[in-house]
Amino acid sequence: MSLSTTLSRIFGDAFASQGYDASYGEVVPSARPDLAQFQCNGAMPAAKKAGGNPRELAQAVTDALSDTTPFSDVGIAGPGFINITLTDDFLASYVDSLSGSLRFGSDPQTPRKMVIDYGGPNVAKELHVGHLRPAIIGESVKRTFRFLGHDVVGDVHLGDWGIPYGQLIVEIGDRRPELPFFDPDRVDGYPAASPVTIEDLQELYPIAATHAKEDEAFAAQARAAVVDLQSGRPGYRALWQHMRNVSVAAIKKVYDRLNVEFDLWHGESTINHRLEPMVKGLIADGYAVESGGALVIEVMTDDDTKEVPPFILLKSDGASLYTTWDLATIEDRVEDLGATEIIYIVDVRQALHFEQVFRAAYKTGIASPDVVLDHSGNGTVNGPDGRPFKTRDGGLLTLRELIDMVVDRAAQRLEENELATEFDEAEKVEIAEKVGLAALKYGDLQNHRSSNYTFDIDRFTSFDGKTGPYLLYGAVRMKSVLREAAERGIESGEVVAPVRDQDRNLMLQLTRLPEVVERAAQHRAPNHIAEHAYELVAEFSRFYEACHILREEDTAVQSSWLALVEITLAELTLLLDLLGIEIPERM
Ligand code: ARG
Repeated sequence: MSLSTTLSRIFGDAFASQGYDASYGEVVPSARPDLAQFQCNGAMPAAKKAGGNPRELAQAVTDALSDTTPFSDVGIAGPGFINITLTDDFLASYVDSLSGSLRFGSDPQTPRKMVIDYGGPNVAKELHVGHLRPAIIGESVKRTFRFLGHDVVGDVHLGDWGIPYGQLIVEIGDRRPELPFFDPDRVDGYPAASPVTIEDLQELYPIAATHAKEDEAFAAQARAAVVDLQSGRPGYRALWQHMRNVSVAAIKKVYDRLNVEFDLWHGESTINHRLEPMVKGLIADGYAVESGGALVIEVMTDDDTKEVPPFILLKSDGASLYTTWDLATIEDRVEDLGATEIIYIVDVRQALHFEQVFRAAYKTGIASPDVVLDHSGNGTVNGPDGRPFKTRDGGLLTLRELIDMVVDRAAQRLEENELATEFDEAEKVEIAEKVGLAALKYGDLQNHRSSNYTFDIDRFTSFDGKTGPYLLYGAVRMKSVLREAAERGIESGEVVAPVRDQDRNLMLQLTRLPEVVERAAQHRAPNHIAEHAYELVAEFSRFYEACHILREEDTAVQSSWLALVEITLAELTLLLDLLGIEIPERM
């Protein structure tokens, strides 16, 4: 059990003994660490509700604590804050119980079946800067829920079913009409090798889009091709499958490098078989109605103060669209995967889209009321001008180029700081890769999910300040202390009562992981984990300065301190893993 839960129960019982709800007993880290380690603020709201005096209630609660509590000091301050400080022995024995643990006091939650929808790139295009945030935030949210014991499926939800694929089919057909994919009489025996590479697609994609814009005949052909594709014309399907395969291979390489792993490589096309029956059912049940030629679901309610446009199920030409696919995907996830919670880590600018989709899903019963549908939107990566990050010539930087840029800068920084200088080339490259990715990810994840931030390569790659490289450096230092202790035959042992402020503060910091991880999950906000990882390393640095482990003469204290290093490293490794950040062995 986490320390804060343990303490909250003690105070909850004391509130209950005075006839108040136990939830008033919640204990949190103190806002004034100079006065106390923890505090309980429940007396104010409890007294307010019951019409009593909060200070008197705080006193009564404090008096009701049994004599065998783990506190060295419990005091009342201001209008009724209860300030709490633990005995050093209790703190030490609690931290000792974390040694060798994989959960650090965090209790698994009752498992829920969840889908995290993140990544969301479109096929036939390279990943660009805009794909960074949904990928790494989504990955972190997935890992966090998994750590908390949930059954989590990550789905990339590829954009693979819209008009661009019709345009590409027509473009390729115009250039190479002899290919068997375009023979309307053929139904099988298509080439096994792709007629296009990812580079071809990259080049053709904007050309086809321009053709569609400028040439109405081309555009009409492209729309017809989409309808044929979606209704299963074999040649188009086969060609589309090749485009999808080469794209997925290219996209996967970049995600692999980012350590972003999807369980499912589903896409908008995956639920194509559901569209017809779903639409029929919605018409039959009276949910889908005709409006201006299109088929829509009204999603406004009487409580709405502003306009919520109707959900479009089918366009006037009968074609399905982005909204339709998301609705059918919910049906699929609920029915096939048994999901009770679906979290979308997608750009905040799509908020209205998800509002409409979720309303339509609940209204029609595609999602029952107990299914949680949640759009946790991400902000953008901005350039120094405060606008979405672009290259110098105004183009969109590919994600691959962005990663290369940061890794190169990380390699430079290592050199400037005379780190990793004496290792062989292969190890140097590996370390620079890890440092660069840590810089990139931490620079991103330290911001709240929904806010925009400015990409600042110099700040992100610095070894000073709140950065990925600083955290890795801290972790590597812990590793080297442990290696050196091992070489000298010093072993870690039981955590004993602290002898300085710095080891006490580190112990307190080590008790906080459970609530941090829970908060990050609750708000789908990895920045809580990022912040705590930094606090932990900063606390460790102060401890390391003040407590000279290898020179300590009291062997019980020395082996206790070494245990603190081990626990700190283990917690930090977990926290960074939840952020998708890997630690090098040394540097
Ligand atoms: N492919 C979409 C886009 O580029 C993002 C997909 C997000 N996920 C979803 N279920 N709609 O805008």
